[in-house]
Amino acid sequence: MHHFAYRGDDLCCEGVSLAEIAATVGTPSYVYSLATLKRHFQVFDAAFADRKHVVCYSMKANSNVAVLRAMVSWGAGVDIVSVGELSRALKVGADPKKIVFSGVGKREDEIEAALRAGILAFNVESHGELEAIERVAARVGVRAPVSLRVNPDVDAETHPYISTGLQKNKFGIPVTQAREEYRFARGLPHVDVVGIDCHIGSQLTKVSPFRDAIARVANLCRELVADGVDLRYLDIGGGLGIAYDDSRGSGTAPPGRTGVGGAEPSQGSASEGEPPGPADYARAIQEALEEFAGLDVTLVCEPGRVIVGNAGVLLTKVLYLKHGEIKNFVIVDAAFNDLIRPAFYDSFHAIRPVRRGETETLVADVVGPVCETGDFLARDRELRRPKEGDLLAVMSAGAYGFSMASNYNSRPRAAEVLVDGDRFAVVRRRETIEDLMRGESIPDWVG
Ligand code: LLP
Repeated sequence: MHHFAYRGDDLCCEGVSLAEIAATVGTPSYVYSLATLKRHFQVFDAAFADRKHVVCYSMKANSNVAVLRAMVSWGAGVDIVSVGELSRALKVGADPKKIVFSGVGKREDEIEAALRAGILAFNVESHGELEAIERVAARVGVRAPVSLRVNPDVDAETHPYISTGLQKNKFGIPVTQAREEYRFARGLPHVDVVGIDCHIGSQLTKVSPFRDAIARVANLCRELVADGVDLRYLDIGGGLGIAYDDSRGSGTAPPGRTGVGGAEPSQGSASEGEPPGPADYARAIQEALEEFAGLDVTLVCEPGRVIVGNAGVLLTKVLYLKHGEIKNFVIVDAAFNDLIRPAFYDSFHAIRPVRRGETETLVADVVGPVCETGDFLARDRELRRPKEGDLLAVMSAGAYGFSMASNYNSRPRAAEVLVDGDRFAVVRRRETIEDLMRGESIPDWVG
């Protein structure tokens, strides 16, 4: 469920019309709903209420400081992957004891910053990284808390670019080598082995891969416990998918059944399938965790998309309509530098008119101004026939939208807006032309 709905013919975010936001802030702009974020976080958190757990929001999905601050105020911890993300998390007052640090390529300066901050755990992905952590921790004079991220060799059945739990993926320590790495880690004087971690991919639309992964991790845990490893944390990563298609491709159906708590199945052309809700996900995880009976572990979850995905839209304006010989094009002022998911993963995002008037439809590609054929937000999409100057909302763009945006074609990045009831605030101003060239310089021997 989310808080983007029509009031009369005007698409609103909570109590604010998107047309008003566009008039004030301009386009393209990301618009986030605070009520949706809160509901998604709380529903997810509540799904695990009957066991010790920490929800570490995976901030790569959306790292805006206002979003992050809200999440932290509701009790979230944070899953980070860089010193940049660490800095944002600390800036908004995240509890370091609820921060986990993931990623295959942590640099020594990043390890040091996280050690000094006193994070909950490093999710370690290789032998070399263990050695680096030992080195840095010795230098800093502390013991580094680590979990080993194991790669269970389970097919997440998602897009290959966001599948991470197979042997052929760069992530984690092969489950077959993990016992040996644990032995090595326990011998390191500045390393404190605190847990085990596993993340198999993103936008999962079935619970069975999670179940399979946990079963494999459980087998390993039994061996580790027999070896005397004191496992205090079990990190199951993130990855729960969301429904991207709640419009049946036409932009005409009423919104309101995507994301956390969505009950009705979506239909239409979503390429990414219908995911389980957090309650089903939590139930499957809990069942799988029965394998861990007797182990007193705190569960760590790293959800990203399921919290923020359906809490945001990308607001864009129609610049031109072009009727080609075999295709229609709706040229809008947002491009793949603003939202790369359709181009990169062939993802489906529903597109709705901000003002619902026209009932006649048109099948078109919705494209941006960037000079690449790959610059599209939708292809062969049936839309209510737009006019030049009309506003469109690209739905479910709260996760991996702005956070993956770039300045390609020297396009300033979009503004970000947060709505709370009847009020809204710009939480990241639109970039300016000066921003674009900040930090660049011309040596005096050029030109
Ligand atoms: N934990 C780890 C270690 C991760 O690598 C990720 C996502 C998450 C948690 C959060 O996963 P989520 O709950 O959001 O599925 N840009 C892609 C998604 C990339 C996911 C990367 N890792 C997209 O737009 O679909």
